[in-house]
Amino acid sequence: MSKTALITGITGQDGAYLAKFLLGKGYKVYGIYRRISTPNFWRLQYLGVFDKVTLIPADMADMSSLLEAVTISEPDEVYNLAAQSYVGASFDQPLMTTAIDGVGAISMLEIIRHLKRDIKFYQASTSELYGTVRETPQTENTVFWPNSPYAVAKLLSYHNTRIYREAYDLFACNGILFNHESPIRGIEFVTRKISNSVARIKLGLQKELVLGNLEARRDWGYAPEFVEAMWKILQHNKPDDFVCSTGETHSVKEFVEHAFDNVNLNYKDFVKSDKSFMRPKEVELLQGDPTKIKKELGWEPKTKFKELVKIMVDADLDRWKQHQEGKMFPWDALNYPGEMNILKRGPKK
Ligand code: NAP
Ligand code: GDD
Repeated sequence: MSKTALITGITGQDGAYLAKFLLGKGYKVYGIYRRISTPNFWRLQYLGVFDKVTLIPADMADMSSLLEAVTISEPDEVYNLAAQSYVGASFDQPLMTTAIDGVGAISMLEIIRHLKRDIKFYQASTSELYGTVRETPQTENTVFWPNSPYAVAKLLSYHNTRIYREAYDLFACNGILFNHESPIRGIEFVTRKISNSVARIKLGLQKELVLGNLEARRDWGYAPEFVEAMWKILQHNKPDDFVCSTGETHSVKEFVEHAFDNVNLNYKDFVKSDKSFMRPKEVELLQGDPTKIKKELGWEPKTKFKELVKIMVDADLDRWKQHQEGKMFPWDALNYPGEMNILKRGPKK
């Protein structure tokens, strides 16, 4: 019999890829979406799955709506991906970030505990938990030292997931995912900001690219591969926590350089670094060790760094060219002309 999944955060990057992946496995897929003034279904449309999923209005900050979503969907598996996921914004809105990313997960765990304990639960944990890293590469046993309200909210959900597993025997798992990117990445994240700007600069639509800390290093993987890891974690014979990463680390500057190389331009002619794009507190280096997930679940990343950069730049170039030819398609970039008017907090004052 086919399984049923409930995805929170189905309108985001990972939610949309996961929905497509699970549909391919024969799952019935439900997702919660929140009421906002302009509906945000472009990723589900872009991946061609909008008509194949069932959407339930709910909000992570409203437990009654989550209860209704679980009651209606009767899931075998819940993937808790919904979050205020932008680290920078968590310094501006720490309470809202804690309510959604930290308390929201507890609401879902409580619902499962009271309603149906055999529902499997996946928590979208993050490499941001490591913050100021205590060792490199980071493993499942590395000490957490979070550096943002986002990371602390995620620490709350990480530990509650573990506690509900140990205290109530729930099949509750953390995927400690390192950064993963794609052409449907949110446009404010650095990789997509770069790929979108490179495409625009190549086509003469933009003159420069202003970034913050070019020296920060991340372990960047390809999102469609990472959602498979989420599923594998819930198919394991026991509930557990796994690091999911590529094992490599690269700087923002390297990403910029390769992105401009892809369109035969020199980044030094276009890129500036401005303090206003820096964070009050930074995570300087992330590099994950994926040994455990490789060994126990057989999951391995395939797409290498340079290939990822090319996939993203090619996709944005193609979309801007199609737009110039008057073609219509689901897309976010037109609604986000840039960050000029958005007040920035900048580095520590
Ligand atoms: P994303 O693109 O920002 O998507 C976040 C999703 O959460 C969106 O569907 C968003 O809905 C939804 N959401 C936000 N607030 C909500 C609320 N109050 N109630 C219900 N839904 C809400 O994030 P992502 O990159 O797909 O990441 C998925 C998850 O993995 C997040 O929890 C993130 O923190 C975590 N994570 C991501 C990475 C990464 O590199 N991508 C790495 C580690 C962990 P709207 O569309 O309405 O905004
Ligand atoms: N967004 C952004 N914009 N980041 C910049 C910029 C800029 O103009 N310039 C430099 N950076 C640096 C940031 O300071 C950070 O060190 C790095 O680029 C990556 O920033 P983001 O792409 O915003 O991602 P993140 O690493 O902070 O967070 C993402 O990955 C986490 C996993 O490690 C998000 O997806 C989180 O939700 C996720 O948990």
